[in-house]
Amino acid sequence: MSDEFTLHTSEWVYPSEAVKAAAKIKDYEALSAEAARDIEAFWAKRATETLDWFAPWEKVLDRSNAPFFKWFVGGKISVVHNALDRHIAAGKGDRIAYYWEGEPGDSREITYGWLNEQVCKFANVLKSLGVKKGDIVTIYMGRVPEIIVAMLACAKIGAMHSVVYGGFSEQSLADRIDDAKSRVMVTCDGAWLRGKIVALKDIADAAVARSSTIEHVVCVKRTGQAVNMTSGRDQWWHDVMASASPEAETVQMDAEDPLFILYTSGTTGKPKGILHTQAGYQLLISVTLSWVFDIKEDDIWWCAADPGWITGHSYIVYAPLILGATSVIYEGAPNFPGHDRWWQVVEKYKVSILYCAPTAIRGLMRHGDELPRKHDLSSLRLLGSVGEPINPEAWRWFYSVIGGERCPIMDTWWQTETGGFMVTPLPVVPLKPGSATRPFPGIIVDVVDEEGRPCGPTEDGLLVIKQPWPSMLRTIWGDPDRYVSQYWSHFSHEGWYFSGDSARRDEDGYIWVIGRMDDVIKVSGYRLGTAEVESGLVSHAAVAEAAVIGIPDDVRGHIIYAYCILVAGQQPSDELAETLKAHIRHEVGPIAVPSKIEFVPALPKTRSGKIMRRVLKARALGQPEGDTSALED
Ligand code: WTA
Repeated sequence: MSDEFTLHTSEWVYPSEAVKAAAKIKDYEALSAEAARDIEAFWAKRATETLDWFAPWEKVLDRSNAPFFKWFVGGKISVVHNALDRHIAAGKGDRIAYYWEGEPGDSREITYGWLNEQVCKFANVLKSLGVKKGDIVTIYMGRVPEIIVAMLACAKIGAMHSVVYGGFSEQSLADRIDDAKSRVMVTCDGAWLRGKIVALKDIADAAVARSSTIEHVVCVKRTGQAVNMTSGRDQWWHDVMASASPEAETVQMDAEDPLFILYTSGTTGKPKGILHTQAGYQLLISVTLSWVFDIKEDDIWWCAADPGWITGHSYIVYAPLILGATSVIYEGAPNFPGHDRWWQVVEKYKVSILYCAPTAIRGLMRHGDELPRKHDLSSLRLLGSVGEPINPEAWRWFYSVIGGERCPIMDTWWQTETGGFMVTPLPVVPLKPGSATRPFPGIIVDVVDEEGRPCGPTEDGLLVIKQPWPSMLRTIWGDPDRYVSQYWSHFSHEGWYFSGDSARRDEDGYIWVIGRMDDVIKVSGYRLGTAEVESGLVSHAAVAEAAVIGIPDDVRGHIIYAYCILVAGQQPSDELAETLKAHIRHEVGPIAVPSKIEFVPALPKTRSGKIMRRVLKARALGQPEGDTSALED
């Protein structure tokens, strides 16, 4: 990695005159300076410009109970009012909110008016199932428009949603249902992926059987295969929607009322329910999308993520709708039926802004320049990247072959916990391939050593955010102590947020994110905890103990290697390794399947019994093991 730094920190890519002329925000420095002068006034101004309020706030930022910061205290607001109601009232009901492209080639045009009607209806369905303000509805669906309807319907009545990504399997889903104590779940019969059906309803049924709280399941028919419907518990979406009233009231919420929880992986096996609240979240995500991706009336925005991840929550669902944008959603895999499916979608819908993950770029890059060149990509004007560091080679391919050297790449660094972009260029900011550049105006970021001292330009350090920001997580659901210890206790300074990432800031102040410092692995941009995979392995009767590490991979960023100690009497075999892979696929989900499973007689541990994954990694990569003085004899 260090070689990369010396190689590329001096390489600049400047925005063209055309980009500068088109950009809404012309002066990054001025906005950063404005924020630095008075951070509260800066956000208050944007809160007035960007959002409608039912009642004004009394205090912009309440620091009295740090780190349980509160934003826009006393304000009354609704994200559904800002995302739908006000556009309908302004006569924009016929505007397209989403062009939806199904994997098999079917398509739908979703207007703001249609979306609003469906949201009202489903809000009434939820109410009829007894869902009240503050309840958590679990959503386990594919990438169909109804997932957006379900999320917004929750928000409309003041309920929270917990969307569980469709790539998670039954135990992961069951754990999340139990933690949220959901009574109602919304799912689909199945999802299309590479021409095959992912049997979501079957997985949902198995999860409900393992959990204890679900009373009602509403199921969208998408793939059409026969599924089990438990009488008294399960209902079809189309049946309940047929009789639902299209009128519903949008509940006025307090600025700090919860909006949703989203589970993400951390350093223990137990997933963390990251809580986001109403006002600050809406504000930061809509301002960042507006400024960074410069969304305008005639843009076609495509965030090629899954609504089930934070990227989808913020930048497929809420922010584009708040801005009244027109988006594209594609249901399936980038490589189905061919490796040019994405380029077809760009051409078909004249996508002007494409935002995706480096792993997808690297995966498509492998298939050469011919496929993208077969398609007219001239509608593109901006590109974006998220989820992991983008290596300069992939950056350059994306820039030249996809963007025709016209389109700056917005490399956005952020996390489930931050809600929206934290370190990112704006179109007018000169780029360095591989760097997320500089903090968004109003976000105070630094790279520091363990004592909190700023690092020099050749030093790797910890990426910290030194001031609260509007869309920050508010707690870990049901675990405020973990919230404090995990994020706010690493440094002695009050209000310093520890991101878990390491980074470097070069001599121009540009930030280069290196990667996670904790036991979190990014596989194809998806965030997994080593402990989640380990507990999945240990839940198999043959495995006594397991350790999991991430190994760098050209396409997927990282892949998983697993080391297992078998219980006495079990023999290592290729067959057993395959069985364990299938077990993980079933228990945790396909994204968590290790690429390699090795059977070992022992694991390197400290005297206190903590597995030294660092040592395993060094051994796997054939590197020096470093300081092993802590190793148990
Ligand atoms: C990594 C995804 C480098 C980082 C929005 C972070 C990145 C984790 C970038 C959060 C980027 C995200 N450059 N690394 N542009 N964006 N990351 O919660 O390690 O799924 O901590 O949120 O992804 O992953 P999460």
